[in-house]
Amino acid sequence: MKIGFGCDHVAVELKNILMEHLKEKGYECVDYGGYDPNVKINYPEPGLKVAEAIMRGDVDKGVLICGTGIGISLAANKVPGIRAAVCSEPYSAKLTVEHNNANIIAMGARVVGPELAKMIVDEFFGAKFQGGRHEMRVNMISDIEKKYGAHWHE
Ligand code: RB5
Repeated sequence: MKIGFGCDHVAVELKNILMEHLKEKGYECVDYGGYDPNVKINYPEPGLKVAEAIMRGDVDKGVLICGTGIGISLAANKVPGIRAAVCSEPYSAKLTVEHNNANIIAMGARVVGPELAKMIVDEFFGAKFQGGRHEMRVNMISDIEKKYGAHWHE
């Protein structure tokens, strides 16, 4: 699996730690920045980059990190077909794949420490969408996007 990473200036260190962690586990990792904690990056920019990379098919899934994980996930979720979930513990990270078919995990570098963040991404990337009744509900989310004029190809 190919994973796209994005963060703002607050979260560069945690992004690098998680990229190394997932590389060691055999995932292919693509870094969409930010790269330097001293260069301020507005979180919508990396959120959009990673979201669009997923929708183009350049990467399969994404990891987004800002101070809380909230701003960067809000930006990514504006891209049709993106389901970015902010998680601060492993249980939700697993369930958001199994039930919501989330394609981005978002976290807050000011909220979770590196070891907890590793457990969160491990659960996220180890989980599988369960389909069935959950598929119908995820389709209902897509229907909301279509209602407001979004079109995309899976
Ligand atoms: C940056 O100070 C901060 O606002 C950002 O990292 C994030 O927490 C926004 O949601």
